[in-house]
Amino acid sequence: MIKPDAVSAGNTGAIIKMIEEAGFRIVAMKKTQLTMERAGQFYAIHKERSFFNDLCTYMSSGAIVPMVLEKENAVEDFRKLIGATDPQKAAPGTIRNLFAKSIEANAIHGSDSDANAEIESNFFFSHLEQF
Ligand code: CMP
Repeated sequence: MIKPDAVSAGNTGAIIKMIEEAGFRIVAMKKTQLTMERAGQFYAIHKERSFFNDLCTYMSSGAIVPMVLEKENAVEDFRKLIGATDPQKAAPGTIRNLFAKSIEANAIHGSDSDANAEIESNFFFSHLEQF
């Protein structure tokens, strides 16, 4: 999911280019905006964290671009491509190193397991057509 800071900064295309050049196939993609409530549902796992409310406010502040991606070893390879959560710690050349503004406005989200990738895909896309 490309986050509001990256979409509003006009970095959607550059990020998609990096994703495709890294060998990911885009299975589904759209531009949409979360409400505060939907952002809370997406990040429910973090609801006890101190940053939860700010995170939901930020994630509902503008358009996002969720995608379903396909690749061998996708979860691990995507996490390498996007870099560490904190852009100060993200390796040079990673998406967060290049485009993130802060630990919160960090340009992009990637699923942390195959099981969560399925849950998060279903959160945004009710049925997936095959192309
Ligand atoms: P993401 O990988 O989408 O998962 C949780 C999000 O919470 C994270 O990226 C950041 O956007 C946000 N966040 C804000 N503050 C923190 C923090 N201190 N540690 C981790 N995540 C944070």
